[in-house]
Amino acid sequence: MLLGVNIDHVATLRQARYALLPDSPNAEPSPLVAAMDAREGGADSITIHVRGDRRHMQDRDAFELRRACPLPLNLELGVTPEMVALALELKPDFACLVPEKREEVTTEGGLDAAGRLAEVKAAVKQLQEKQIRVSLFIDPEIDQVAAAAEIGAEMIELHTGCFSNAVNGGLEAEISRLRAAAERGHALGLQVNAGHGINYANLRRLDEVPHLAELNIGHALVSRALRVGMTAAVREMKEAMETYPG
Ligand code: PXP
Repeated sequence: MLLGVNIDHVATLRQARYALLPDSPNAEPSPLVAAMDAREGGADSITIHVRGDRRHMQDRDAFELRRACPLPLNLELGVTPEMVALALELKPDFACLVPEKREEVTTEGGLDAAGRLAEVKAAVKQLQEKQIRVSLFIDPEIDQVAAAAEIGAEMIELHTGCFSNAVNGGLEAEISRLRAAAERGHALGLQVNAGHGINYANLRRLDEVPHLAELNIGHALVSRALRVGMTAAVREMKEAMETYPG
């Protein structure tokens, strides 16, 4: 199982001050340095989300990472003409289409691929024409998985937000949903990834979800990096992922 390291919150910390001084040569912390440290710790790819409101990652971060970081780049983006145009220019290795609401703190739900079929299909086609492999960030629902396959995406990323917030009986139900969605996605020939709210503690329960090819993890890694540094934080997560049964 591969690890995509989401470094958005490195930029969140920088933007706490840097937003006031966009040309400051001393802007820190640097997403590029974090990406290189994550690589040292065994990251398989780097994920960034350039949001419409540019609250953390800026366009220049995306282009700098593309130019200077040798790891595959995964760009998360909302399905808007502005963001699709950015992706076509950036040409990341992967693009993950996500829903985006201005007022949300983080990506709260999955993309309604089933309800926005034609719109999402058109965006996916444009990206794939530039040899960008596309993932759809969806809730673990069978109709959304089927829609992703119909749209022609190569991958799905199952939203684990409900899983990570669930307790007791609710947790068992969330694992069942994830398992069913992963099985259907795999049967339809999709690469199945997962992300959102995954941390060192809840990771073990994902052993019960089959066919996971990649996890995308951000907040837990950036938080842990404050204690031990990004390289060690990523290395610890990679080690914890080694026992995944597949
Ligand atoms: N995957 C997607 C599509 C996301 O939007 C996010 C949050 O930016 C993540 C994974 C990572 O979530 P977390 O920061 O909770 O690990």
